[in-house]
Amino acid sequence: MQSMKDRSIIVTGAASGIGKATALKLAEMGANVVAADINEDGARQVATQAAAHGIKCVPSHTDMSNSDDIAKMVEQTVNQFGRIDGLVNNAADIGLTRYDSNVVDTEMTVWDRVYQVNFRGPVLACKLAIPHMLKAGGGSIVNVSSIQSLLGDHERVAYSAMKSAMNSLTRSIATTYGKQGIRCNTVCPGPVMSREPEKRWPEKLVEDFRSHILLEDVSSPEEQSELIAFLLSESAASVTGQTIASDMGYSSHMHFYMRAAIPPDKA
Ligand SMILES: NC(=O)c1ccc[n+]([C@@H]2O[C@H](COP(=O)([O-])OP(=O)(O)OC[C@H]3O[C@@H](n4cnc5c(N)ncnc54)[C@H](O)[C@@H]3O)[C@@H](O)[C@H]2O)c1
Repeated sequence: MQSMKDRSIIVTGAASGIGKATALKLAEMGANVVAADINEDGARQVATQAAAHGIKCVPSHTDMSNSDDIAKMVEQTVNQFGRIDGLVNNAADIGLTRYDSNVVDTEMTVWDRVYQVNFRGPVLACKLAIPHMLKAGGGSIVNVSSIQSLLGDHERVAYSAMKSAMNSLTRSIATTYGKQGIRCNTVCPGPVMSREPEKRWPEKLVEDFRSHILLEDVSSPEEQSELIAFLLSESAASVTGQTIASDMGYSSHMHFYMRAAIPPDKA
């Protein structure tokens, strides 16, 4: 992958999971990073770890549901590094998903919060960062969505809808700003063993995922960060407007065929 030396990239939700792995991967590739998160201590710790790669990494205490915080995050990036080359819209309020079930039972307050953090925040971050990318002659945005944005389910109605909206936002941005050097892509992870899954997924659920994916195991934050870093880098110069499923093949086949193909003694 091409070096990211002297690039200046904002990563939201950088205190843990995919965001943390991405901030550290970008630092390893030579980029300067703004590690934004509602978890201030976590963002600070990641910034210290990332700076060990000899780059500058600035923690930013940012709640993605707060417009002033997002404006400060963008301002801080420009003040520190003079430019913005990349934005990773990764933060999401995952804890909320336990109150997010079907359309009848899910409270509108849950919809409002999921909208604020998981969609409105990323929209505002793009709105404020893109003018700086244009000044820098281009840039790359990666929106972290979910495989749930592409599939129906019995629960997580708000989460899935807001992630689908993100996929659409990606295509609009790619269409409008491509000729001016800005690429925008969506990554749709399948099951990834990050903070909430580690805490909440019973082993039986992880086993069920393993039986439905086409590769050996569920994914890790580090694996997802490789794809995100690739899309931010010039190695992905020809890729824009795409919705890429990084889901170990979860969404690319009909699961009952898979089940039928497993010999009874292995099922
Ligand atoms: N883990 C999975 O299986 C999975 C699957 C598909 C998609 N995703 C997506 O990947 C992204 C990262 O998830 P993860 O699994 O690494 O989760 P995580 O919980 O480890 O990380 C999420 C980070 O976002 C931060 N955050 C939460 N609310 C915030 C807010 N209001 N403002 C700023 N930061 C906030 C948290 O503090 C945390 O550091 C999310 O967008 C999630 O929807 C995850």
